[in-house]
Amino acid sequence: MVDWSGHSALFLLSWALVARPLARWWPTPLRYRRAIGVAAFILAIGHLGYQADHALNWNPDAIRFMLPLHRYGLLAGITAIACMTPAALTSLDRLQMALGQTWRRIHLLTVPALVCAVGHTVLIGSNYLGELSRDASHYARSGIVVTIALIVLALRSGRFSRQFGRSPATSAMSSNRESESAAGCHDR
Ligand code: HEM
Repeated sequence: MVDWSGHSALFLLSWALVARPLARWWPTPLRYRRAIGVAAFILAIGHLGYQADHALNWNPDAIRFMLPLHRYGLLAGITAIACMTPAALTSLDRLQMALGQTWRRIHLLTVPALVCAVGHTVLIGSNYLGELSRDASHYARSGIVVTIALIVLALRSGRFSRQFGRSPATSAMSSNRESESAAGCHDR
């Protein structure tokens, strides 16, 4: 069965991370980046609740009986949530102003969160390498999810920004938002 909460969380997290680099061609997601990021977090928590019930039956002892591959996957998932939590909890204008540069650093934790979430998905997901009786489709799906994550990271990389620069529209939007100390992260 496909876990829609987990997949939606992964999709929204990736989308929040590429909102700025994509703004040159498609500015709308940047305007809603905060909502997209918070929605990713809420879905990840929903997914955690669903899997704690469905896979672990609310029994943490069950983790001891999991395969090492699945345990590493679980650890990656827990790390992903841990990296997303501070950003979600500080996504208020008031806290953004109070925290200054620290706020930006906190929000950059969503990059390792994506790496951990993808590692988690591939290692534990039954539609990925977490399935014991794998066939070509499990490898193909794992390849696709890793490729998408690499594209997200490449879009965010300094090299990409230097190559394409910020469009006037994006720069204007970003400086307006910064001067208003308003919504959204101001990281790359
Ligand atoms: C404490 C945190 C987490 C726990 C306990 C957890 C638990 C699980 C478990 C048990 C599975 C295996 C389900 C299956 O049988 O396929 C799974 C799969 C998955 N998880 Fe998580 N997860 C956590 C965090 C996350 C986060 C933060 C994301 C995304 C941002 C995520 C996305 C996914 C995805 C996409 C799958 C693959 C589902 C599939 O193969 O259909 N998980 N998770």
